[in-house]
Amino acid sequence: MAEQLRVGIAGLSRGGDFLAPLTHWEDTTVVAVCDPDPAAIERRRDQFGAAKVFEDYSEMLDSGIDTVVVATPIHLHVPQSVEALGRGIHVFSEVSAAVSLQQCEELIAAVRRSPAKYMMGENCCFMKEFSTVRCMARAGVFGEIYYAEADYVHEVGPWARPGSWPEKWLLNRRGPSYITHPLGTVLDWLDDLVATVSCMGTGAHVDPTRAADDCSIMLCRTSRGALVKIRHDLVSPRPMTHNYASLQGTLGAYEARRYPGEEHRVCLKTAETRPEAGGREWQSFSGLADDYLPDFWRDQAGVDGDQHGGSDGAVMRAFVDCVLNDTEPYIDVYRALDFTVPGLMAEVSVKQGGVPVAVPNFRSL
Ligand SMILES: NC(=O)c1ccc[n+]([C@@H]2O[C@H](COP(=O)([O-])OP(=O)(O)OC[C@H]3O[C@@H](n4cnc5c(N)ncnc54)[C@H](O)[C@@H]3O)[C@@H](O)[C@H]2O)c1
Repeated sequence: MAEQLRVGIAGLSRGGDFLAPLTHWEDTTVVAVCDPDPAAIERRRDQFGAAKVFEDYSEMLDSGIDTVVVATPIHLHVPQSVEALGRGIHVFSEVSAAVSLQQCEELIAAVRRSPAKYMMGENCCFMKEFSTVRCMARAGVFGEIYYAEADYVHEVGPWARPGSWPEKWLLNRRGPSYITHPLGTVLDWLDDLVATVSCMGTGAHVDPTRAADDCSIMLCRTSRGALVKIRHDLVSPRPMTHNYASLQGTLGAYEARRYPGEEHRVCLKTAETRPEAGGREWQSFSGLADDYLPDFWRDQAGVDGDQHGGSDGAVMRAFVDCVLNDTEPYIDVYRALDFTVPGLMAEVSVKQGGVPVAVPNFRSL
């Protein structure tokens, strides 16, 4: 078992967010970074210290790293992961795992052939509140969960330059093209996967030159029969809401904070209710949550500069631990595709007026 991972980071925009935890921990060292854009390198230079700088990804892979963070444009995740896995280099891939079914097959084949680990870094599952809700769900606090929903509302249109990857892969295709944050969150709670999906869109009103619907709604039936609703909107002119999610079970409900200043809340059947108030009441989440806080949030005080509410450090820690301890990755390649492929099949559905479409389970393919 290696005692320290020698990490290379590809793509220094999003990839730079992982410099804080990876340079803070004693069992990881960032020995190489790679980005063809010199400006991206310069922006992070004071953070990566003595790491070797590469413009070429393959050269970085050959420089003696044993682990790579793939945080490059979305369509490069699979080819770059496949190349690293082929050299026996462990891969932490940014979301989404893949942009087509063909890429999914290539990724699965590479993971099956390689002795190295692959994990997709879906960080929303590792947000403090969401990972606490997962522990509560696993402990049966909500009973049988039969409904969940989540939103990803993030206006990216104005920043997507013509010819850029977001323009091509997110805004010039129909259906929910960036789905792992909301869908991964709720599938993690449900410990389930999507069997069929139907999707309808609003059409393109804000910018009719683009293919993307302003807003798409995915309705998913899970393999155990739960219903999941996902709102996906990269276009509408409004503030970001990408951490809203909720669930309903036979024993209770959870609602995340939707707008700044709001509290996360639960309603549990076991808690006291006031019938005179006309029914049940929301209760504070924070008091209950302490009992179910995952170990990461108990043990690690967090890292200065850690992004996305500390979830970047949490998801990276899960990956590092699985490599160092030779355990299964929390989001292995099959789970990565559980979070990714329903979005690809929703594109098929939305183009056919919302018909239900089966979602392949790559475990049996
Ligand atoms: N999990 C999250 O919260 C989160 C947040 C932001 C972005 N992302 C994901 O991270 C990825 C990158 O997003 P971004 O916002 O940083 O995009 P970006 O366009 O801002 O940056 C991409 C970077 O990759 C570099 N690059 C391009 N080709 C490369 C190559 N062959 N090798 C190495 N570097 C290369 C570019 O020069 C650029 O610096 C996307 O897939 C996105 O979906 C995830």
